[in-house]
Amino acid sequence: MSHTSSPASRLRPGTGASSQDEINAEIVAIEADAAARVAAGGSPELHPRRDYAPYRSSLLRHPTHELVRIDPEEVERVSPAFGHTDVNSLESDLTIQHAGEPIGERMTVGGRVLDGEGRPVRHQLIELWQANAGGRYVHKRDQHPAPLDPNFTGVGRAITGDNGEYSFTTIKPGPYPWKNHVNAWRPAHIHFSLFGNAFTQRLITQMYFPGDPLFALDPIYQSIADADARARLVGQYDHSLSVPEFSLGYRWDIVLTGPKSTWMEGEDADE
Ligand SMILES: [Fe+2]
Repeated sequence: MSHTSSPASRLRPGTGASSQDEINAEIVAIEADAAARVAAGGSPELHPRRDYAPYRSSLLRHPTHELVRIDPEEVERVSPAFGHTDVNSLESDLTIQHAGEPIGERMTVGGRVLDGEGRPVRHQLIELWQANAGGRYVHKRDQHPAPLDPNFTGVGRAITGDNGEYSFTTIKPGPYPWKNHVNAWRPAHIHFSLFGNAFTQRLITQMYFPGDPLFALDPIYQSIADADARARLVGQYDHSLSVPEFSLGYRWDIVLTGPKSTWMEGEDADE
């Protein structure tokens, strides 16, 4: 009688790779530990632990030494400079960058960038990058067998307005596999970067979509132990942002500081 391997074992990317069940158990244990600390009088964990084991590579690439203080002015001498006139308003539309229309569910994503007091953060460079509707990035490291879309690059940028508002026209990205563990899939998401007033202030985060069935399984989304803080990464369907006969609208406000701030990731994360 011949041995037949299970689908899961056939897809196993390498010896020692964990199962989704093992990852889930680690996620649940860390969240329970964080909740116990809050119950004992500690603060909610609004940001991921640096050693967040379910997200395997986080163990290898977080800082292990104290921060090195540097002269911010010296950094500015060798950093890219962005003038307001460098950003064209058409760059916020990811559906018009090629000869044809990209495939996928067209969407308008908009909101406001706010500080911890609810004040608008005006005239800020905000950048976005994402996978296409099939969950594929235009990047040499993304070789999973979903099609590239010749009409979609997946990058855009804009400057926030007088009320901190921004708006992008794009298509809804698909979920995609990654090799954190066996059968690991990222929920659909859009990466955002905010430059602030100086190069040293750059912040990066991700926006998700409501009701994604992969939330509970994703160690990046779950790396924030506090459920309310996680929920602030989820954009909400907003019919007032939907454009008749054209796109579905999602609203996502980004809060830079304070207890309601949007989580921002470390510099090396790239999933
Ligand atoms: Fe991504």
